[in-house]
Amino acid sequence: MIRVSDPIDMKSLRSLLGTLVVALLTAGCSLEGDYPQSSVAPASDFAQVIHELYVDIFWWTLLILVVVWVVLAYILIRFRARPDSPKPKQIHGHMGLEIAWTIAPAIIVVAITVPTIQTVFSTQPSDPEGALVVDVIGHLYWWEFRYPDTGLITANEVHVPVDRPVSFRLSSDDVIHSFWVPMLGGKRDANPIRVRPEGVDPTYSWIHMTPNQVGTFWGQCAEFCGESHSLMGFRVVVESEEDFAAWQADLAEPVVAPTATAEASADDAEVDADAPDTGDAQETVAPPVQTVAIDPLIEQGRELFHQQTCVACHYIEGTNAQGLIAPNLTLLGRRSTIAAGMLENTIENLEAWIKAPQDIKPGALMPGSAVAGGNWPATNLTDDQVSAIAAYLHSLR
Ligand code: CUA
Repeated sequence: MIRVSDPIDMKSLRSLLGTLVVALLTAGCSLEGDYPQSSVAPASDFAQVIHELYVDIFWWTLLILVVVWVVLAYILIRFRARPDSPKPKQIHGHMGLEIAWTIAPAIIVVAITVPTIQTVFSTQPSDPEGALVVDVIGHLYWWEFRYPDTGLITANEVHVPVDRPVSFRLSSDDVIHSFWVPMLGGKRDANPIRVRPEGVDPTYSWIHMTPNQVGTFWGQCAEFCGESHSLMGFRVVVESEEDFAAWQADLAEPVVAPTATAEASADDAEVDADAPDTGDAQETVAPPVQTVAIDPLIEQGRELFHQQTCVACHYIEGTNAQGLIAPNLTLLGRRSTIAAGMLENTIENLEAWIKAPQDIKPGALMPGSAVAGGNWPATNLTDDQVSAIAAYLHSLR
């Protein structure tokens, strides 16, 4: 152990420095990995200005760190205790130093404050022209997304077009949540303005941004809202204008009933290809015929789902499931995850969720096979019935 009065052992100093360098290098390497919630990889204008401010402040703090360490190291070495060294000269106050270390931090604080305030104002609500408005509604513990222009609704996985401004209008159905997509922007609170007294206009919080990269970006509730706060994720799918339009069209009119088409699709295609020549230089090619075989399990699941109380809370476009208090399940099979971003969207995970949602997300309001949830009694579904419903839901695409 090094005591204060010991002369500095240059060997241990060197090994300490070596350890620090290795630690820094390893920390640097780990940034190369796949971090879908990275806040240093901006993919929208909003995230970009936040990132620039962060980098600015990083350099200022690094400057402070370097100055402090250099001065500290100099003093430690230059004025270290030596055997028989005399008592150092005692100083009480040094006008020059006092002024220097008051002014220098003040300058740095101003240098950080000015761009911070600029960024705060530049990310405040304005109304970008041609923006797509998306209502974001926080629930315990999932996210609802509504497109007021088309009336379409989805849950936990919202689609938006790339390079077009999008205005997220935030609110909550119960407690305060916070919308945060590290690579796109946030955080901003989703407040329970819907429970305001009658006659009082709601004051929404907004986030305006223009995503500039195609991809799937992970979001997360960033305001403690209850026992499953940390399990309240979502995805933002940024895609081309065409893909977005196609997705919206499918959401409006999904194929909710996969029906058998003849396996002989290849023959049909040949027939069509032999259709009378219209004289066009372009050869007529028949569109690919969708071949979805009737799966008895899916059929059984469909019947069960639409007879059960599921339909009281959930909504599936084009069916009798018209509930609006639980996640909209239209096109559920296309989502990458279920349970608000917690599980990969597989039939096995759907089964686990339907069977016992609270095992995955404590406090979830959906009842399980054997456990009540929210105000609902247990569903009493057998494992086979659960499998059928999972197969049906997974087929919704
Ligand atoms: Cu919702 Cu935390």
